[in-house]
Amino acid sequence: MSNPSPIPSSKRTRALVVFGGTGFVGTAVLAQALSRDKALHVFVVSRTGAAPSWLRTNPVYQTERLHFLKGDLLAPQTVRDGLREVLAQYHIQACISCVGAITPWSNENMVRTCGDANVNAYGISKDVKADKFVVITRDRSNMNDWWYPFPRLIPGYYQGKRKIESCIENDAENRGSAICLRAGFVSGTRRTIPGLPTSFKVSVPMEPVYKIVGRVCPVIDVNVLAAAAVRFALSPQKADSALVSNDEIPDYFKQAVPAD
Ligand SMILES: NC(=O)c1ccc[n+]([C@@H]2O[C@H](COP(=O)([O-])OP(=O)(O)OC[C@H]3O[C@@H](n4cnc5c(N)ncnc54)[C@H](OP(=O)(O)O)[C@@H]3O)[C@@H](O)[C@H]2O)c1
Repeated sequence: MSNPSPIPSSKRTRALVVFGGTGFVGTAVLAQALSRDKALHVFVVSRTGAAPSWLRTNPVYQTERLHFLKGDLLAPQTVRDGLREVLAQYHIQACISCVGAITPWSNENMVRTCGDANVNAYGISKDVKADKFVVITRDRSNMNDWWYPFPRLIPGYYQGKRKIESCIENDAENRGSAICLRAGFVSGTRRTIPGLPTSFKVSVPMEPVYKIVGRVCPVIDVNVLAAAAVRFALSPQKADSALVSNDEIPDYFKQAVPAD
């Protein structure tokens, strides 16, 4: 991808960067983005930097418009280095971060991966002059229910989510261009174990579990969540608010894309 004379910004090919695009939500985002905009190139950044094997055999992802880069958002220079050559040829229209982890054995790791890694992703998105930024955070509606165990079991997860949400909410300069999609439990077929590298392979349909969970907790289909992230990312319109609740996600930014 070496490029001796820089291409003027207006002539660069449009691209989307998906941090964590090898994971459960991230791979759904890739599928939505590749099918929605047939001219768009999509760059995945993750620690493995490689397409999961199931994805390599799935026709949805068989396109030269999909690229994989290795980079660790907790060592942000590795991501900046990986994106340097991309920037010479592409205009990065938006960045979507699907990076997070559930590691009950390390509270600190959850704060870092859900919080610091996403704060770094947001900083990189602004540095590369992406028009939009989306991060997947967490629904809060059960937080104060006495029977809901997660705030006590994995407090670092919520602390990390709050860290990136505050960072975006307090960034007055960029208001309307960055959002947090506060997802409930995400339903679909999981091929990753949260907190473990995506090189560990599983295939677990979550729909039966979430038919029961959905009676007491907000649930969202992975493709519905991914579609909302992509609609906002590729729309020229700004958002009214930085935080988008799970209930708002299915119709979010549909008015901006009438053909949806
Ligand atoms: N699944 C749910 O029910 C649910 C509900 C609400 C919110 N969320 C949030 O949605 C997001 C996506 O969840 P998911 O279930 O798709 O998670 P996942 O399958 O575990 O995917 C996490 C992704 O992050 C990447 N990653 C982790 N640490 C990284 C780092 N330091 N630098 C770069 N990439 C890194 C992983 O790839 P590598 O291993 O290749 O680095 C993977 O692609 C998370 O923030 C999660 O908290 C999920």
